[in-house]
Amino acid sequence: MTGSLNILLVASECFPFAKTGGLGDVAGSLPQFLHQSGHNIIVVIPMYSFIDRTSYKIGTTVKKMEVRMGSECITCSVNKTKLTAGVPIYFIDYEPFFGRPNIYHNDDFTDYADNPRRFTFLSKAALQLCHELNFRPDIVHANDWHTAILPAYLKRLYKDDPLLGDAAGVLTIHNIAYQGRYDRSYYGYTGLPEEDFTADKFECLRAVNFLKGGIHFANMVNTVSKGYAAETKTPAGGYGLHEWLNKKGDDYVGILNGVDYSQWDPEKDTLIPANYTYADISGKYVCKSILQKQLKLKRSEKTPVIGIVSRLVEQKGLYVLSACIEDIVNTMDVQFAILGSGDNQLEGFYGSLPQRYAGKVGSYIGYNNELAHRIEAGSDFFLMPSITEPCGLNQIYSLKYGTLPIVRATGGLNDTVENYNPDTGDGTGFKFRDLSGKAIYNTVGWALDTYHNRKSHFKKLMKKAMEQNFSWEESAEKYVQLYNRAIENKKSR
Ligand code: ADP
Ligand code: GLC
Repeated sequence: MTGSLNILLVASECFPFAKTGGLGDVAGSLPQFLHQSGHNIIVVIPMYSFIDRTSYKIGTTVKKMEVRMGSECITCSVNKTKLTAGVPIYFIDYEPFFGRPNIYHNDDFTDYADNPRRFTFLSKAALQLCHELNFRPDIVHANDWHTAILPAYLKRLYKDDPLLGDAAGVLTIHNIAYQGRYDRSYYGYTGLPEEDFTADKFECLRAVNFLKGGIHFANMVNTVSKGYAAETKTPAGGYGLHEWLNKKGDDYVGILNGVDYSQWDPEKDTLIPANYTYADISGKYVCKSILQKQLKLKRSEKTPVIGIVSRLVEQKGLYVLSACIEDIVNTMDVQFAILGSGDNQLEGFYGSLPQRYAGKVGSYIGYNNELAHRIEAGSDFFLMPSITEPCGLNQIYSLKYGTLPIVRATGGLNDTVENYNPDTGDGTGFKFRDLSGKAIYNTVGWALDTYHNRKSHFKKLMKKAMEQNFSWEESAEKYVQLYNRAIENKKSR
């Protein structure tokens, strides 16, 4: 099939309405680029009660919608507004599930116990909404375990549906570590037949595994970089699902995330104190000075600042970093600007560093989009020591801000950062392989040495970094190819 596609994209988060990480960025930006290239896409997310109806001009569009969940029938309503480029976004409004302060978890970071019900309901409601709107999707695009059930619904419950019967299911895995594994008792709520609760579909060690079922039923599956696609096909990187991904053969691919440069470009960014380009970099030093002030760091243009913006979870390598960050601060002329929220233990550790290292470490525990932009702009380096990283967006944002990434060579980090070559001055950042405090310590030392003692190379790295272009155009086109292959697969099988 060529030409314009009708696409339904369903996700648990979408920037600017609700976001904890990169999934929110992708769900908020990819649809706009697909829309601009002529596709007819609608987005569906939950109506979380913290979303501000007034500022986003959100209005009710379906007053009463009935959604059948197993033997239960749930009555909800649906709200609507538009993303900047004009993409319609719908919000499933059901207070008992979505009227809570956070997206996935309680304030103490423990998951809401009914997450499998909440997101199964979201998925089913999104399909019901197609009926309410008389929208005939060619593609239903699910994201992560939360909505991974969608391809199974299409195949099992909507096979002969006049509106949804021909739709192909696509699943994007943003992070294979989160699979949605829950007690078997949740399976009944899905309304799927018992025969699909088997080890090749939804069952995993007698529990239900939503991502696994999605991989089985989707007409095409992708993840968010080529490197991570390869890693997830190995026993070490597949978190138990490598065998099923290998079984997909060519129907499992990697497509690198793009960046929405209307949000993340120092030349235009409205959230930073001064704009800048490589040709006129002076604004970066204004950003640095104001960041130092904001995070109570010692005002010093010469001292390099290392930024970290992250979910504070094990995957991001932050326990490993905690073993060496104090050595770094004690032995090197450097400052840290840290923003994040997550595990209690990591929040406690990174939140307390500024008291112990006044003027050298600044941190903010919580979610703060403006500060995320200011750290990108005001830092000299950006550190991501991830254990695994499906794509990673912050290192790509950093490149554009001339903030050289220091990354562990894994997944999307390895695919997007080119290691510094001290012989030629080529590269865009600094990479290490070992998952150890020593490797982080040495690589930070190498980066700082380059900053202080090889100024011409540092400038060259910065220039090349800022010239990198990871805009969505190319990746959105790859999604269109993925969608067309999913349609062919659906027809031929
Ligand atoms: P992940 O999706 O695994 O969290 P990514 O690098 O793909 O990692 O995306 C993280 C996104 O979330 C970036 O846009 C980053 O700026 C943002 N982010 C992470 N933590 C915070 C925070 N505490 N406050 C504001 N933005 C954050
Ligand atoms: C996930 C991954 C991250 C990726 C993001 C968007 O949260 O951890 O690496 O960039 O999804 O795809």
